[in-house]
Amino acid sequence: MSSVKFDYSKIYNFVAKDEVKALYPEAQEALKSLKNGTSKGNDFLGWLDTPNDITPEILADIEKTAADLRARTQVVVVIGIGGSYLGARAVMETLADSFHNFDKADMKVIFAGHNIGEDYYHELLNYLGNKEFGICVISKSGATTEPAIAFRLLKEFLEKKVGREEAAKRIVAITDGSKGALRTLADQENYKTFVIPDNVGGRFSALTPVGLLPIAIAGFDICALMQGASEMRKECLDNTESIAIEYAAARTALYRKGYVVEILANFNPKLHYITEWWKQLYGESEGKENKGIFPAGADFTTDLHSMGQYIQQGLRMLMETIISVEKSNYKVEIPSDVANLDNLNFLTGKRIDEVNKMAELGTQIAHIDGGVPNMKITLPSLSEQYIGQLFFFFEVACGISGNMLGVNPFDQPGVEDYKNNMFALLEKPGYEEATKAIKAKL
Ligand code: PA5
Repeated sequence: MSSVKFDYSKIYNFVAKDEVKALYPEAQEALKSLKNGTSKGNDFLGWLDTPNDITPEILADIEKTAADLRARTQVVVVIGIGGSYLGARAVMETLADSFHNFDKADMKVIFAGHNIGEDYYHELLNYLGNKEFGICVISKSGATTEPAIAFRLLKEFLEKKVGREEAAKRIVAITDGSKGALRTLADQENYKTFVIPDNVGGRFSALTPVGLLPIAIAGFDICALMQGASEMRKECLDNTESIAIEYAAARTALYRKGYVVEILANFNPKLHYITEWWKQLYGESEGKENKGIFPAGADFTTDLHSMGQYIQQGLRMLMETIISVEKSNYKVEIPSDVANLDNLNFLTGKRIDEVNKMAELGTQIAHIDGGVPNMKITLPSLSEQYIGQLFFFFEVACGISGNMLGVNPFDQPGVEDYKNNMFALLEKPGYEEATKAIKAKL
């Protein structure tokens, strides 16, 4: 069976193979603590079982809900932030036609609730003005400001447009099973709902209804996605030397040698949001207690013309993990040109992907020569199954890495600080003392 692969053999100039191998027992212990529920943050380990817990019945319910929403609307606005939107967006952006949106299902899916841009919302309401639209609102806590503002705006707009009764049929909420403002509202308005399990944190929820419903609305195959996740679950939980152990051990060995920034670099523009999802997963899981690898992203070859200079010759604290896609889904050849003014006739008949692969290899060699240890993750091609494998691989490796770092990978206490300041500045009732304190700092 072909599957996602990982290779760290190009870091041996920077950290010896034996030094990485010496960390395997530590990584295996970390995995054991995840599996037997003794890891830090052990009340948030439900994601380890989601590939099994999402039954065919749940998948069928999600598919049916997606089909109902598609039948009623031309556009669905997915409202969510952080872990409540990045997984779905990553799958859609990777698999959709770059120029025809998600028209596999003749359906446009757009996003809101991931920013507080006034012009964005003005333009969104303008855009939706003459469209039949629906809403998929996602928030585990049901209380996050950005999606709550977006939902308040869009719900009112939709109700004015089609009436409260029809609006309720076009709104699906994904939230906690019993708590939170969104749960209360959804029950009150009789919206169709799906539950985010208590023991699955936002950034580990891509393989629950949080990711699955938007992906199904956009017309992609959620069964294949979950099948890929199940395959990787088996690989990572049943093997003591899985690719998750290898990746966690290799990046930890480099971190302990002073490589404190990891760039996840792709050579395919469709993978941009996979990187965004990965940045959130690793950044929120590891960056705490004044520790952690800083996760950065780059889209190559685009960013070789912006960040390439720094990566090649800047401060040497970078490691790089390349995501390589073995096979393109389509074939495009470079044509011959009689005048050959650009001197590119030596490429005549070559596929664009052949050139891209040489750019990838050339970059890898250049960066190693420049002092950047290089790891590589290979996907056989871009498909739901391989993205399911990739997601689960990254999640397990993240749980292992966080434990090796000694932090709780499943909380995010630091995210509260900006919220508290924002509420104090906005003079939210109950924040009077904080308002006084922050105003004194201005
Ligand atoms: O990983 C996390 O828990 C966070 O990034 C959340 O996903 C994000 O803050 C959104 O939270 P919620 O789904 O509660 O609105």
